[in-house]
Formats: sequence, C-alpha cells, structure tokens
Amino acid sequence: MTRTPVLLDCDPGIDDALAIAYLVAAHRAGRIDLAGLVCTAGNVGLDDTVANALAWLDLADAPELPVAAGAPGPIAVPHVLTPETHGPRGAGHAELGATTTRALDPRDGARLWVELARAHPGGLVGIVTGPSSSLARAVALEPALPRLLRGLVVMGGTFHGHPGNTTPVSEWNVDVDPEAADRVCRAWEEARVSDPAVPAPLWCGLNLTERAVWTPARSERLLAASDTPLTRALVDALRFYFEFHESVGEGYLAQVHDPLVAWLALHPDAVVSAPAHVRVECAGEHTRGMTVADVRGQRGRVDNARIATDVRLPGGPDAVLDEVCGAITTLG
Ligand code: RIB
Ligand code: CA
Repeated sequence: MTRTPVLLDCDPGIDDALAIAYLVAAHRAGRIDLAGLVCTAGNVGLDDTVANALAWLDLADAPELPVAAGAPGPIAVPHVLTPETHGPRGAGHAELGATTTRALDPRDGARLWVELARAHPGGLVGIVTGPSSSLARAVALEPALPRLLRGLVVMGGTFHGHPGNTTPVSEWNVDVDPEAADRVCRAWEEARVSDPAVPAPLWCGLNLTERAVWTPARSERLLAASDTPLTRALVDALRFYFEFHESVGEGYLAQVHDPLVAWLALHPDAVVSAPAHVRVECAGEHTRGMTVADVRGQRGRVDNARIATDVRLPGGPDAVLDEVCGAITTLG
C-alpha cells in the first residue's frame, strides 16, 4: 500500500500538538508518509510555534522530517496573540525541552509547501491547523499549487450560523489572517474554474470541530494506557486548555479542533460534507473574518470548498478522539 504523503501546517498550540502526535503515529504505523511540517505564527509567535513543533516531534520520537518556519504573521495586519488560550509559549502547562537535535529546514514554509507538492504531483495532502498565512504565501509562490495537491483540509471558519470563537462570526485561524484565508479561497476558485477536477478544499469549521471535546477523564485514560514523557506533556498542556475553556464558560474541558481535522484528512470516506462557494470577509466592521458560504449558488460562482458537517463513524467525534488516543499510545 503506497503511503499518502502529508504536510501539516500548524501553529502549536495545544490541540495542534495532539494533531502532530497523531500524524507521527500514523506515519509510524505506515498509514501515511509525514513528509513535512510547516510552522506558522498563530496561537503564539513563530519562534514558539517552531520550538514547540520540534519539541513535540522529539517527544513523539518522530522520524527525521523537514520542519520549516512559515509566515511570521498575517499578511495585512499586526499579529494578535492570545496567551490566555494556549499559554504564553503555546504549550499550556507543559514544560517542553528547549534542546532538540532536529535542524530546522533551510527552506521557509512556503517553499516547503511548493517543493513537497512538486515532488508528489497529485499525491500530497495538505492539512492546515493554524492561520492560512504560510499557505497563502505558497500559492503566491506557485499558483499551480491547487492543481499539484491531492487534497487540502483546513481547520478554519465557522459555518451554518454556528457562532465564532473569536468574534460573533469569526473563528481564530481565519480571524488572525482573513486576507490569507480569502486568498486561499480565491486560488482554489480560480483553479477549479479552469479545471473542475481540482479537488475543493475541505473546510472544517467550528460547527463540527467544537464537537471534539477532550475531558479530564480522557486525559486520565490516556495516562493509564500510556505513561510516557509525551503523554505527560500532552496532559499538562491540556490542563491549561481546560482552564481556558472554563474561563470562557465552556466548562472544564477542551475543544480539540486539530486532531479531529487531522483524522478527517486521513479518513476522507468518513467525512460528511457539502459543496459551497466560500469567501472570507475582510472589510466588514462587524464581520471581518467571517467565512461567508454560498450553499445555494446565489453568487453563480464555481464551488471552491466542501464544508464538513459530520463524521460517519459510530460515536462521532468522540470516537475519533478514541482513535487519536489509541494512536498516541503507540508512541514513546
Ligand atoms: O479556532 C480553533 C483553532 O485556533 C485551532 O486550530 C486552535 O489550535 C487555534 O489555532
Ligand atoms: Ca491550531
């Protein structure tokens, strides 16, 4: 069985760490070829997302793989940080090792996107669990990127009237850099106008990902199944995420968007989605960062997205997290 090459573009970030560990486990199991990691400024600054990614890869005993520093911030606006969400360094209460033997790839994130896509024409699956800032730069570098990729799966936006988590209408990854997210939408629209065979990106918004809920009981089960430096660090990181969610009225739990999205990217047949034309509002005083989905063809534009709405797995997102935990217990 040929292993699908996968690139993860992330902003670790606590739930990004779960996605990283899950994808390393999938690589170790021979399910995928984790071909590269791009770190993008998002939950924390670029230096921290890079340091965190390298540390999580070390803890997961990941194979050597290219890790590139991506965009240091949004295209058009200053980078807004929210240390209260993922912690001042982006790893919650986890104390990640500062030393790593892994060398950062000399290429920047956009260049790594393009070179991996060219190395695997029609084969690479891109997963974005942070802002689209690096991907937007990659598309500017290689306008043919949409045609080169086998698929693109994005954790971003919110759809079908589901409220935002950053403003009433915007989700964090998109809100950080709406211009980048809209450039991605436009790039895939242009590509699909000229070639309808180009696969539309799967947008996984809060309407689905907020159903991926990690609880203290799940942390206890993970440690009982596998007590390793990796799982202890993940549990420490998640404890901060519990405190954040409790502080915003969600309860002592954590919505872990990114591992759900990483699992969906590896299980396309389990995704319930519908086509839409999506653009991102960048000018609205009250609506900046809103992912505006045309699901009725009112704009008369080519669909440039599939919006994920559910998971075809008995038990839904909770069962997905069971599989994510099962994979993580195979590490370390
Ligand atoms: O809105 C949730 C997203 O923002 C997740 O990817 C989380 O890691 C943060 O980046
Ligand atoms: Ca993220």
